[in-house]
Amino acid sequence: MEEAPPEHSEVDRVIESHSCEKSALIAILQEIENSYGYLPAWALRQVSEKLEVPLIQVYGVASFYDAFHLTPQGKQLIRVCLGTACYLRGSARVLEALESELGIKDGETTPDLEFSLQSVRCLGACALAPVMIIGERYFDKMTPTKVHSVLKRVQSKN
Ligand code: FES
Repeated sequence: MEEAPPEHSEVDRVIESHSCEKSALIAILQEIENSYGYLPAWALRQVSEKLEVPLIQVYGVASFYDAFHLTPQGKQLIRVCLGTACYLRGSARVLEALESELGIKDGETTPDLEFSLQSVRCLGACALAPVMIIGERYFDKMTPTKVHSVLKRVQSKN
């Protein structure tokens, strides 16, 4: 079932601060994303109604840009590189180990909203392949067997 809008939502204020301008659609979505950590379905409906932009168009923009998320994101984002250098050194198996350890697939978030998992193409550290990043922290020369201890390490820091 779809989440209901909160009684006092930020969304109306954000839309009004942009004078309900259609041309401000991306800026409005960015501010909503910053406030909620994602773009709730009810917020997209409000944007569509107030800006008089078809809902399908609002969804089109929201799903086009990587900066926008349509589901809540975890407190920690894990990015696993599947670029060529990392892939050739086994990063797909690292991703599989993460999926199995966290019980989610690439692109998903754990039910406790602790972690989101995302594969990416090249993190700019090819010499250290395979590489993954959790938050701002790099983990180099990753192997599937290191996954469990790395997750334990970052969890115990919270
Ligand atoms: S290919 Fe993985 S960091 Fe460049």
